[in-house]
Formats: sequence, structure tokens, C-alpha cells
Amino acid sequence: MAAERDLNASTVYANGAFCRYDEAKVGLLTHGLQYGTGCFEGIRGYWSQETSELFLVQLREHYERLRASAKILLMELPLSTDDLIEATVELCARNRFECNVYVRPCIFKGAEDVGVRLHDVPAHFAIVALPHASYLDTSHGVRACVSSWRRADDTTVPPRAKITGLYVNSALAKSDAVAAGYDEAIMLSHDGHVSEGSAENIFVVRRGTLHTPDSSQNILEGCTRRAVMEVGRDLGIGVVERSIARGELYAADEVFFTGTAAGIAYVSSIDSRTVGDGSIGPITSRIAQTYERAITGREQKYVSWLTPVYGGRRVTV
Ligand SMILES: Cc1ncc(COP(=O)(O)O)c(C=O)c1O
Repeated sequence: MAAERDLNASTVYANGAFCRYDEAKVGLLTHGLQYGTGCFEGIRGYWSQETSELFLVQLREHYERLRASAKILLMELPLSTDDLIEATVELCARNRFECNVYVRPCIFKGAEDVGVRLHDVPAHFAIVALPHASYLDTSHGVRACVSSWRRADDTTVPPRAKITGLYVNSALAKSDAVAAGYDEAIMLSHDGHVSEGSAENIFVVRRGTLHTPDSSQNILEGCTRRAVMEVGRDLGIGVVERSIARGELYAADEVFFTGTAAGIAYVSSIDSRTVGDGSIGPITSRIAQTYERAITGREQKYVSWLTPVYGGRRVTV
């Protein structure tokens, strides 16, 4: 998904300092690699040609979620949220990005020893930033299927935390969906209700109202999900968080995914049943247009979501 660029030569933030990507190494026995004991975030930045500005979206929300995820794995972020925001802005400026970007902060158990546990393992923290193209092809709509893989239950691994090891669950669902000729998987929770996509939350439009699985449905509580609910309400569209039955997916007027990487991606079919007439629906379209304007700094109402990287100044490093 990264555009052509020498990743090795790019600047990253690792354990308290800026350095080259290829200087920031982890060992083969690293706990986070062997046992999946890490947490991460995905943050987007949108380049505005008009204002020569790079806007990072919902930094505070992402770092607050990372802090909560880390706590679940008995880790603590090394910096305050304000300092994390500052480090991220500086990282993007040092890379001199003038394009859309994807920022990947991660905190992981950094010890190189053997032994499954959460306690008494020091944490390492890093932020990597990349130029970013699109994640899901949104031009033709997403062909989704309901996966035979159930979304991990909170009694197994808490899905509200963005835990690296938990992404095996998403990867199984995604690869099976792609192997079967679909673009994306929709996972159900253990009791058979709709949970979410492999890396996206899901919204269903029925009779003019937005419905999305509530936070007890083993979802990751998405930053884009929250933003979309805010936009929906501001546009006068009803928003309901509740448990959704599988059959409602087939009966829906419109369905769309939301996520930092995916943005707002409309679903054109589910299990080979066309959603609406297979094109983007009117409510999805209204929300997507407003959201697009918001994240590129063209909606005054939502400027608080954005952190400008250059702020009218160019950093020379
Ligand atoms: C499993 C899962 N659900 C939902 C989302 C959407 O969350 P957000 O909008 O914060 O990117 C993501 C992406 O991070 C995800 O990995």
C-alpha cells in the first residue's frame, strides 16, 4: 500500500529518538514477535494541495485508544498524549511528506527471552510513517461475504484493544474471503450477530437510519466509526447502535465499512446478494462527502479532528 519510496532511508521514532528505519531493529526472539504481545494504531494523514498542508486525523483519539490497549497488556506508553502528538507531527515533518500518509505507532513487549506472560516484560515503543495509497478499492464497491471465522470474543482476547496477535483472527477471515473471490469479510460474533469487517467497522442503512453494532458486539471501537456517527447526526440522520442480525445485512438499503485505512467504503454485495442497486447509496454518499471534506480541512465544523503538520511553516532538518 505504500507508494514507491526507500523505506530504509525514511525516518522513524524508536525508543525515544528519531533514526533511520533500518537502524531500528528488533531481535528474532522479541516477545511481541513470538507471542503477539503488542498493540498498534493506524492513523491517516491527508495532504491538501490547496493549502500545502498535511492534516493528521484524530491523533488524540488514536493515542488514547493505544493507551487503553497497552493497559490491557500491562504496558504503559512512554509519553503523554500531547508529547505523542508532537512526536508524530515531527516525524511527518522530518520525512517531508507532501502526500497522504499512514502512521503506525506500536508498543510491544521488547524482551528477547522465552516465556509466555504479560508481567515483567519491558515495553518498546515506535512510530513508523509511510506514504499511503488506498486500502480497499472503493470505486466499484466492496464485494463482501460473511466469514465462517467468528470475531474473537472478549472472553478470549479483548477485541476493543488493537492487539497485534489478535489480527490472526482478521487475517484468517480476510484471506478466506479473497480466496473465495470476495474483497472483504464480515465477521459475526459468537452468538451470530454482525460484528465487523477484518479491519473496518460496519454500518447498515435501513429506512433512512444508520445502524451499527454496539460496543458489546466484540468490535474495535473505531475512530472513523465515531466520526461517522457524529457526521450522521449532524446531517440529521438517525444513528442507532445495537446488535444486528445477519439477515439484516441482506435486507439493508445500504451498507458501508468505515476505518482509518479503508475510509468510507460502500458495500455492493454481500454473499452474492446485491446491496440496493449495487451502487453507492444516497446516505452513504452524503456521509462520505462530508467526511472527505472534513479530513482534508474543508469543513470548519470538524477542524478539531485535525492536527496540521506544517502549520504554515516548513521544517528544515
Ligand atoms: C478490527 C478493526 N475494526 C475496525 C477498525 C476501524 O477502526 P478505525 O476507524 O479507528 O481505524 C479497524 C482499523 O483500525 C480494525 O482493525
